[in-house]
Amino acid sequence: MSALAAEHGAVNLGQGFPDYAIDPALIDLVTAAMRAGHNQYPLSAGVMALREAIAAKVSRLYGHAYDPEREVTVTTGATQAIYTTIQALAHPGDEVILFEPAYDSYIPSIRLAGAAPVPLPLTLPEYRIDFAALAQAITPRTRVIMLNTPNNPGTSVLSGADRDALAAVTRDTPIIVMSDEVYEHMVFDGAAHMSLAGHPELAARSVVIGSFGKTFHATGWKVGYALAPPEITAEIRRVHQFTVFTVNSAVQHGLAAFLSDPSRYEALPTFFAQKRALLRELVAATPLTLLPSAGSYFQLARYDRISDEPAAAFAQRLVREVGVATIPLSAFYHDSTDHRVIRFCFAKRDETLLAAGERLARLRAA
Ligand SMILES: Cc1ncc(COP(=O)(O)O)c(C=O)c1O
Repeated sequence: MSALAAEHGAVNLGQGFPDYAIDPALIDLVTAAMRAGHNQYPLSAGVMALREAIAAKVSRLYGHAYDPEREVTVTTGATQAIYTTIQALAHPGDEVILFEPAYDSYIPSIRLAGAAPVPLPLTLPEYRIDFAALAQAITPRTRVIMLNTPNNPGTSVLSGADRDALAAVTRDTPIIVMSDEVYEHMVFDGAAHMSLAGHPELAARSVVIGSFGKTFHATGWKVGYALAPPEITAEIRRVHQFTVFTVNSAVQHGLAAFLSDPSRYEALPTFFAQKRALLRELVAATPLTLLPSAGSYFQLARYDRISDEPAAAFAQRLVREVGVATIPLSAFYHDSTDHRVIRFCFAKRDETLLAAGERLARLRAA
């Protein structure tokens, strides 16, 4: 979709990355770290100052004190944390449950581990987990449940009741939960992010994954982390050691220093809520139908008042004829399930969103 967008000079609200500058203070801190000589292999598990800063942030926000020495591992973005977690925990003969629509690396990570993916649909229109269906899907072979809150592309967030339901479903089982929380600071309308780190029973059997690329608008830096109890972390680190071994040292030092000021992440919900409001206002003026967006930096819309064509065809036509790139939600299902929904990313400059809005205003109902 990005290639098609470039070809047609379309405004790209497809792929999930910001088009605005990152905080210059972060660039200065990384530059200073390079000049200070942090240019050689750091410890495999991550620079200790960054592991400590991550543990302090998580303890402050969610009340669980991870041990930087034995429970925090810095990774090459969340994608590597996901991949490494699955390679470490799932093996041939195991089943891994995931919810669709799902981030595109989940199923390949499971298959590369030789395990069997068990995709369950999130329930529409709010893209929530059906816990009765989850309980039914669990078998003696279930090794991992992968979840993602705030959800991409579903834009839903786990509630406190959902978290309790997850604890109940996995109680007295050997199942480990992998919780992808890369959009933890993009939760709207006064709701709190229900990290699995904040639920002691679940934290004891979970791998919680974060991403500084998402949090600090620097997706190209690829630094993330995995938090897990010592015995799970030990397994993750065995795989980590021989996949990437370690992660960019200067960026780790820069991030550690940057994290000392909590306002740098506390301001994010307000920042993104404004972007969401602008995009929703622009889309509301068209025949597209907005779905709720409780979290993440995405907004979903239906186009049933415009056409009944498949989402992939509609999204391609939107690029060619209107000049706006989105992603069809069917791309996030293993079998291309198509509910005729497209995804917009609103992590963009206001000018970009306004330019997309101007173009979308050309849309006419059928
Ligand atoms: C749900 C989800 N998990 C993980 C990632 C990847 O994060 P990173 O860039 O830190 O690897 C993304 C990026 O789009 C995502 O949407």
